[in-house]
Amino acid sequence: MSLVTLKEVLQEAERGGYAVGAFNTNNMEILQAIMETAEEERAPVILQASQGAIKYAGLPYITAMVRAAAAAATVPVVLHLDHGTSFEQAMLCLRHGFTSVMFDGSKYALADNIAQTQRVAEVAHAMGVSVEGELGKIGGTEDDISVDERDAFFTDPAEAEQFVAATGVDALAVAIGTAHGPYKGEPSLDFDRLAAIRDRVQVPLVLHGASGVPAESIRRAISLGVRKINIDTDIRQAFARAVKQVLQDSPAEYDPRKILGPAKAAMKEVIREKIRLFGSAGKA
Ligand code: G3H
Ligand code: 13P
Ligand code: ZN
Repeated sequence: MSLVTLKEVLQEAERGGYAVGAFNTNNMEILQAIMETAEEERAPVILQASQGAIKYAGLPYITAMVRAAAAAATVPVVLHLDHGTSFEQAMLCLRHGFTSVMFDGSKYALADNIAQTQRVAEVAHAMGVSVEGELGKIGGTEDDISVDERDAFFTDPAEAEQFVAATGVDALAVAIGTAHGPYKGEPSLDFDRLAAIRDRVQVPLVLHGASGVPAESIRRAISLGVRKINIDTDIRQAFARAVKQVLQDSPAEYDPRKILGPAKAAMKEVIREKIRLFGSAGKA
């Protein structure tokens, strides 16, 4: 099967009232873990590469691996740029066959974010590629944000309406209380804000920083219009835990296959749990 666009899979998700997992990949083992699980669960899937992943693996390797995966796939697969921060990065990804790009202009003032996202969307759409924008600051759990600041960083529903209308994005990442990386306590999500955004915005909503968010909050977010859910940290932690376990149990082990094989199996279990929680299992 050839790669499909983000717009296509999220339109289906909207019809079915579920969310599609967007899993970050950096190497072959992570990619295989995602693809094998998506196939086993009959789930559409979004493979996403961050700028860090592109720097680490190189665009030619990432796209070659994804192409090999997509050629063998029987479920819909999207190749998406995660948190692209420049026009040039988005254009490079278009040239390499990505079917979706995120432009993250969240560090800019609204007008600038709109102008830059709109510029990416104009070219991407002309090439049949989807675009995700971000409004509000999602940030990391390590960012020291006070309670007052927290609210100021959240997505404003009226601005969200303006942003989507002006940029023409196909999906909108919202800041409603999630953060990237491991949470110290339990994250509290602003569901009233999410509902208000949903009422003003017609495109599917995206939840970043979803690792460590309790299942009940994920279900509620989906019921309020979240259709793409980003997971990285939970997969990274499963990978690292499994590698540490192998080396602790067998300190003399030096065969990468014996070290990375269990890591892949551990990542698959996390991905399976997320796919089932998001309601995308059996939808492909
Ligand atoms: O949102 C960030 C993703 O977890 C990717 O992280 O930039 O370290 O690859 P990264
Ligand atoms: P987590 O690492 O917190 O799961 O966030 C992933 C993400 O939002 C990627 O864009
Ligand atoms: Zn993110």
